[in-house]
Amino acid sequence: MRMPIIAGNWKMNTTATEAAELVKAMKKKLNSISGVEKVLCPPFISLTTVKDLIKGTSIKLGAQNMYYERSGAYTGEISPAMLSGLCEIVVLGHSERRAHFGDTDQIVNRKVQAALAMQLTPIICVGESLEQNEAGETIEVVTRQVKAAFQGIDSPQETVIAYEPIWAIGTGKAARGDQANALSGVIRSVVAQLYGNSIAQEMRIQYGGSVTAANTSEFISQPEIDGALVGGASLKAAEFIGIVEQTSKIKQVG
Ligand code: PGA
Repeated sequence: MRMPIIAGNWKMNTTATEAAELVKAMKKKLNSISGVEKVLCPPFISLTTVKDLIKGTSIKLGAQNMYYERSGAYTGEISPAMLSGLCEIVVLGHSERRAHFGDTDQIVNRKVQAALAMQLTPIICVGESLEQNEAGETIEVVTRQVKAAFQGIDSPQETVIAYEPIWAIGTGKAARGDQANALSGVIRSVVAQLYGNSIAQEMRIQYGGSVTAANTSEFISQPEIDGALVGGASLKAAEFIGIVEQTSKIKQVG
């Protein structure tokens, strides 16, 4: 059985004060929900604040990105060494990074390598654009992204993959559960080709794109989907708690 994982990607939202308020509004309840790995990914500047606030709880901390070099003249960047010891998880290759900040498949691969070398658990985001979807290229695009992300990596360790169709992110137009399940199955078979079936069966695959408390069950009830990467809804305490609660119920019963 794969432990479901729900991660809240706050993106470029919340000041440090607001981040603290958000954590305070949800930490007690989140901590009490069992059977789900719960991850908060605030902006870099709030990582230490959130880390202090979740100390002693079952909530984990993640970063939204990092650079792959260990240190040096890279003004404005954050290194794996800086995150190591501060958080356990790092989101890599999010479509917004790919679209706005030049993260190519090759750069994502270097970041994944660097994260694994520092014992950080990557959540690797993959997913097709609307145009690619309409052109019937979804499987090809996602397969290429997964293979590229793992290029030259002997063991994916605890890596998580998030399938996030770009057209579903922040649009309120989530994919259908069966579509997302099918793509998660494709991703798992690519991982099986790369690392064998037992590693593929252990790897957790999230769905991301307009997940809310109201549609969580559509995704979480699918056999290939092991959690969600949540953007907008992770900024509302009750909504995020609802997503985690439902995940706990569905995956424990199922
Ligand atoms: P959304 O974002 O939940 O706001 O659609 C998901 C994501 O980008 O990870």
